[in-house]
Amino acid sequence: MCGIIGYIGHANATDVLIDGLRRLEYRGYDSAGIAVLQHGRLEVRQRVGKLRNLEEALKQEDLVGTAGIGHTRWATHGRPSEDNAHPHRSGNVVIVHNGIIENYLVLKQRLECDGYHFESETDTEVIAHLLARSMAEGRSLPQALLATVQELRGSYAIAGLCGSDPDTLVAARSGCSLVLGQSQDASFLASDVTPLLPYTRNVMFLEDGDIGIVTRHGITAIDREGRPVFRDRVAIDWNAEEAERGGYPHFMLKEIHEQPQAILDTLRGRYRYDEGEADLGDVTIPPDALMNAGQIWIVACGTSWHAGLVGKYLFEELIRKPVQVDIGSEFRYRKAMVRKGDVLLALSQSGETADTLGAMREAKRLGAYVVSVVNVVGSTMARESDGVLYTRCGPEISVASTKAFTGQIIALYLLALHIGRGRNVLSRDKGQWWLDQCLALPGQVEHVIKRDAELLSVAKRFYQKDNFLYLGRGIHYPIALEGALKLKEISYIHAEGYAAGEMKHGPIALIDENMPVVVLAPRDRLYPKTVSNLMEVKTRNAPVIAFTSEGDHDLDALADCVFTIPDTLALLSAIPLTVALQLLAYHIGALRNIDVDRPRNLAKSVTVE
Ligand code: F6R
Repeated sequence: MCGIIGYIGHANATDVLIDGLRRLEYRGYDSAGIAVLQHGRLEVRQRVGKLRNLEEALKQEDLVGTAGIGHTRWATHGRPSEDNAHPHRSGNVVIVHNGIIENYLVLKQRLECDGYHFESETDTEVIAHLLARSMAEGRSLPQALLATVQELRGSYAIAGLCGSDPDTLVAARSGCSLVLGQSQDASFLASDVTPLLPYTRNVMFLEDGDIGIVTRHGITAIDREGRPVFRDRVAIDWNAEEAERGGYPHFMLKEIHEQPQAILDTLRGRYRYDEGEADLGDVTIPPDALMNAGQIWIVACGTSWHAGLVGKYLFEELIRKPVQVDIGSEFRYRKAMVRKGDVLLALSQSGETADTLGAMREAKRLGAYVVSVVNVVGSTMARESDGVLYTRCGPEISVASTKAFTGQIIALYLLALHIGRGRNVLSRDKGQWWLDQCLALPGQVEHVIKRDAELLSVAKRFYQKDNFLYLGRGIHYPIALEGALKLKEISYIHAEGYAAGEMKHGPIALIDENMPVVVLAPRDRLYPKTVSNLMEVKTRNAPVIAFTSEGDHDLDALADCVFTIPDTLALLSAIPLTVALQLLAYHIGALRNIDVDRPRNLAKSVTVE
């Protein structure tokens, strides 16, 4: 998730672009750049790191013009570096891009054969060359962009500018948001409305397939066929802070809602459906190292550790591969019996967690191949591991991890498919079937999110309680741990997650009418056992909040509240279930007036032991 801004008017574009990027920095901050049309020449400036590095560099010169585009990057393809920073240029054309171009390798090879030279490792640079080529064939800038996007597969928001057409900015969208804005004497484009608010509240949201045309006199759009298309003008009444959160009251809620997209982005371009296989060309360790791993280890901390536990159930059940899962701080000191040829998966949103990093280094020293599954491109773990599988969830701002967790599980699904197919444990048909199940997940998550009001009413009933217990079996046991962790960190309510079968070995002593118990009971093979545990709780007068599969009505009479999730495989129901628990925790925290995005004592990156 990157930030895009474009300006064309009469003021100094450099100032407007930098101001806009400052407001977009929450969308990505590993590098930033602008392109300004100065005296008919395109001038491009990029810097790695926070925006202030670019600002410092620009103080040394007078970059002045009245049209330009800018970008703040959240890397997906290619580490954060000046070469990979946007804008990307081809001859007299510059572009910026948010999203992922799935077929960029094929396009790149074709363009290289045609003599185009690539300067970056990004998927974006192909767009610049395609646009330049299309203009060289005699098209106008909007028509050239239209022809260009017809060659792209994936998701994108693109903005472009050409030295030979100084009075127009162009924009295209498919799957990533893009908004155009118009003031009295200038026009704008941006990834979201945040940077436009100081200048205008009169905006127009592009729809998928649209090409936006932005001039000093106005904003218009054409559709996929090149015909003018009308899009409603919207008057925005958000303040700047609300706009940054996309109108959501908290980043956490926004990030929960981003999960369908994050799941798609993590899957995007990483499977070959016809063969029923994962395509993990971006993980750089030899493929047979994963297939023939002696032992698979997973290390992580906190929420990421819960994703690791999900991975254990998944690998063992789906591909019959034994897995050991460790907490980073334990693994690094426990003399784990790692052998040469083992594979260690290090899961981390930030890629900077000291304990996971320590564990990873120790495993490497002992001869394991290390693959990190991280969200932050270019992070320390990504740099130090033998291979990286990025989760592509976009920046997670809220301290409590949500979309990174589901992204990690999707990455583990892909790894399981990759290993399962490689070891012939999964047939092609089974691989395709598995992909079908994974591709259905965004819709299932969307469905849970749409029924948020039900979770809010559960939250209203119980938010004043002091203790919660979460119970689950099988793959839903780590989801119970995660549900409890989410609740405790953002509501300050004491909450414990337990394997449902363990309750009778101790925690049952705590159960009374003041202890709400969240029971995770989707209809799987362990359902009858979980229901027995639910009964044990109910007979001790605890209020029961049950999560089960759609179509199940057996729990209606037993539980105080029932929330249903789409009826899917147990191995996959972990994801919609998690999203429901995130929403429940979120509402309880918000009802208790907790600063949900910045709970006390916590930090987003834990870089100390
Ligand atoms: C909980 C949470 C933490 C992190 C943990 C590891 O919501 O965010 O438990 O999961 O600190 O962080 P990463 O994933 O960055 O290694």
